[in-house]
Amino acid sequence: MSFETLYADRTRAIKHSDVARIFAIIEKGDVISLAGGLPDPNLLYVTEIQEVAAKVLREIPEQALQYCPTPGLTQFREFVAQRAGERSVLAGVENTIITGGALQAFDYLCRLLLEPGDEVITEAPTYLAIIHTVKTYSGYTTGVPMDEHGMRTDLLAQILSDRREAGKMPKFIYVIPNFHNPTGLTLAAERRSELVRLGAEYGVPIIEDDAYGELQLEGEPQPLLKSLDETGGVIFLGTFSKIFCPGVRLGWMIAEPELVQKMILVKQANDQCPNSMGQKMIQEFGEKGLLAKQIIKIRHGLGRRRLVMQEALQKFFPPGTQWTNPQGGYFTWATLPGAVDTEELLPTAVDQWRAAYVPGCCFFPDRSGPNTLRLSYSLATEEAIQEGISRLGEMFGNHLAQVG
Ligand SMILES: Cc1ncc(COP(=O)(O)O)c(C=O)c1O
Repeated sequence: MSFETLYADRTRAIKHSDVARIFAIIEKGDVISLAGGLPDPNLLYVTEIQEVAAKVLREIPEQALQYCPTPGLTQFREFVAQRAGERSVLAGVENTIITGGALQAFDYLCRLLLEPGDEVITEAPTYLAIIHTVKTYSGYTTGVPMDEHGMRTDLLAQILSDRREAGKMPKFIYVIPNFHNPTGLTLAAERRSELVRLGAEYGVPIIEDDAYGELQLEGEPQPLLKSLDETGGVIFLGTFSKIFCPGVRLGWMIAEPELVQKMILVKQANDQCPNSMGQKMIQEFGEKGLLAKQIIKIRHGLGRRRLVMQEALQKFFPPGTQWTNPQGGYFTWATLPGAVDTEELLPTAVDQWRAAYVPGCCFFPDRSGPNTLRLSYSLATEEAIQEGISRLGEMFGNHLAQVG
């Protein structure tokens, strides 16, 4: 049977996914992949994770193996709210819902808020799964350019003012203020206040995705947008994927109780409840002090790899290339000089040079940025990063020499 004529209008237009393409590249053997944003299991306390799994199964199988309340186990919601409190976000159980990762929370928010044709404002570039998810709800994303201090809030102010004049406001603003995916940049403190102020002034909610916020590698932490929020307009998303492991698929949303209640209704029509076993494991891991210890181990590993990547870029990439110097997270963003199309060159990089990256255009709503690329230092070893950057540097150098 062909399903082509049966798809709903909102899904018929979706023909390909960059996420799927990237995973296909990562899965190719014998390629040094600096493409995916995957955590390295070598930086996790795997034995201790095995031990908490065994303990939970031994001591509380009736809870760990069972469904749980739709918004998550109350004790676990308290645990998440309390951790947010340590970062100056005032939240209780009523503000907190546990989800199957931050991305599921984002998908639910789209389901709750988006009508076909709605506009979502993001940074440009932005996390590619966000562009894809908004499309699946027949919305579209408008990117606000960034500089080294993050999203240009002066340009955002102009867009919001234009939209008010035109009589149709964007449905929400999605941002990654800490160690942004894909650029690694951090939103400057003054812009954080300005962003929260603009959201409140124009009545547009802000979704703050803090996927990497706890992976600070240098410098001082900046305030979370949610900690600056006085009107309840900031929706805070977090995840255990980068600090515990993505295999448990657990994240959260902290927001106004009204929005949490509405999300519970959506979740009841979806997976009913989050992973009970994972919640129990993380709580046990946290209470033993292992989560804090693991975060330190991950930061240490990432810190070294980031340095190796920066040094290798300096050594091997063509003169004139610019790259970001992330204070945390997984990614560096490079901009090559001259006429390079990183998307066009990716098959050559993978097949001939056995090294992979993500072409920058995947992260722009309008697929611009042909000479940009995202490089991840989260998974590859220090040696592999050095070798991968050396291969890519040579490839781009050869290409630039050819095109003049
Ligand atoms: C900015 C950002 N948000 C969310 C996610 C996904 O988080 P989760 O695994 O909790 O769905 C990622 C990562 O892969 C990310 O880079």
